[in-house]
Amino acid sequence: MSFFADKRREVMVHIEKYMLEMMDTYLKPIDTNWQPSDFLPDSTSENFYQDIRILRENAKDLSYDLVAVLIGDTITEEALPTYESWLAMVQGPSMKEDGGWMKWNRHWTAEENRHGDLLNKYLYLSGRVDMRQMEISTQYLIADGFDIGTGHDPYRNFIYTSFQELATNISHRRVASLAKKRWRYLIIENVWHYCIR
Ligand SMILES: [Fe+2]
Repeated sequence: MSFFADKRREVMVHIEKYMLEMMDTYLKPIDTNWQPSDFLPDSTSENFYQDIRILRENAKDLSYDLVAVLIGDTITEEALPTYESWLAMVQGPSMKEDGGWMKWNRHWTAEENRHGDLLNKYLYLSGRVDMRQMEISTQYLIADGFDIGTGHDPYRNFIYTSFQELATNISHRRVASLAKKRWRYLIIENVWHYCIR
């Protein structure tokens, strides 16, 4: 590890306690946060089958390109274990289970987990996707892992993440604006509206 990377890790350890203090100010309460089931047909409802039919009817008109983008986005969201283990690696041995960074990592993962969950269920119910092939791709992505070339340097990792999250936000908003063009894509618009928050 370089001299600078080592010093930067010291800074991360130093500000860790502020993460613990500030976390509740920025994190949404779990009990009132949206959940995937808020946007999907209720399987305990008598209208379940009718709602599924409506969902599938609406999904029929989604363009090939839009479905392809949704598949890519879903697989990316579902590779969450990769991102969580990568973030844990950034702090390495200095990351304490009860420390601020690890708490942030757990809460971030818990929030993110809803995105792939919702998208996967939507695509499954839509009947537009070969789910087995999608699941194989997801398993490959998680099994292969990824190396963004930033090593253990926390500054580089967080700079990368800042740009990547911004790029993802723009990408998702553009998908949402395409979906907005027709009312029947309302469920996808809602999905993306909440996934980028
Ligand atoms: Fe996400």
